[in-house]
Amino acid sequence: MKSLSISEKRASIYCSIGVTSAQRVCTAVLKGGDMPCKLPVCELIQCQLTLFYNYWHMNEVLETLLPESIVVPTGFETVGHIAHLNLGEEQLPYKKLIAQVVLDKNWPKIQTVVNKIDAIQNDYRTMQLEILAGNHSLVTTVVENGIKFLVDLAKVYWNSRLATERQRLVRSFTSSDVVCDVFSGVGPITISAAKKVKYVYANDLNPHAVEYLERNVVLNKLDRKIEAFNMDGRRFIESLFSSQRSYPITQVIMNLPNEAVEFLDAFRGIFRRRARADSCSLPRIHIYGFSKALNPEFDFHERINMALCETVIDIKIYRVRLVAPGKWMLCASFILPKNVAFEQPSWEGEAKEQV
Ligand SMILES: C[S@@+](CC[C@H](N)C(=O)[O-])C[C@H]1O[C@@H](n2cnc3c(N)ncnc32)[C@H](O)[C@@H]1O
Repeated sequence: MKSLSISEKRASIYCSIGVTSAQRVCTAVLKGGDMPCKLPVCELIQCQLTLFYNYWHMNEVLETLLPESIVVPTGFETVGHIAHLNLGEEQLPYKKLIAQVVLDKNWPKIQTVVNKIDAIQNDYRTMQLEILAGNHSLVTTVVENGIKFLVDLAKVYWNSRLATERQRLVRSFTSSDVVCDVFSGVGPITISAAKKVKYVYANDLNPHAVEYLERNVVLNKLDRKIEAFNMDGRRFIESLFSSQRSYPITQVIMNLPNEAVEFLDAFRGIFRRRARADSCSLPRIHIYGFSKALNPEFDFHERINMALCETVIDIKIYRVRLVAPGKWMLCASFILPKNVAFEQPSWEGEAKEQV
């Protein structure tokens, strides 16, 4: 039998052979004797394999680099090109290292890594963010449910976790609806609704949010279907309902979960100057809120009743998501009660009595 040269033996390593055959071949080659039969020949080579940084997964690198006592961050939220970490106290001394690994392992999709500094507290619901790695731009484009939104995380509110809820809400609208989005932000609900409904009036107190809302309206070619306002929610409700708009509003969205209930009293008497027969155009209100109560639905319903000074009978309350242990975000939907919409201010009644 023809003995194989080293290169032929090496080449034969690539042959596809069964485990038993491979063992026999190896034994024969190592013994240096002739082959017992016409089996492919292979050679065992001892070598050192160096696996570089690129080979390892993000978590494996972090596990190796961080001290054992530090919990490795398991993931991050993504907003466009921005990775948003939520680091705990004990991880903070390693924030730059963690951010760099997150950036390296997720580039080019991720180009900036930030960490939330504080809980959202201000009126505009914006986050205090520290840029830890990558480029310093917090202006990004987010694609949600196939729609593009331009946002500046330094100046406006954005929460990707509400994408499914926004979809659920918009799905309940019809093509004949006219929507009023009292706390619209940069327009995730407004724009997605405008693709389906007849018209949307959108408002936000934050001028930057309104600027981005207007850009998003243009970006999505919806300028004929959306009108943007920059005022306080209460004034917006009062002025929108007191003037005779070309499109009567059928749906109202109030997505400011911490405080929206406190704005409900703005609906008291909104139709006081109209004939009561107009009641067919009473809008459906969708209001968001938080509750830590044992019975969150009961608690939220009670607060709505109190704000309207009326018992809302036909109300649907949906659990959106748990935002913290024991704390629910809820969405209540109900038709504005006729008595609330047509309520006369008490001083008007008193004045009539005197006459
Ligand atoms: C929780 S965010 C919701 C934004 C948007 N609906 C979304 O889903 O992204 C609440 C928005 O209400 C705005 N806001 C806060 N106080 C307001 C007020 N008094 N009147 C109108 N808008 C207000 C904030 O600027 C913020 O954009």
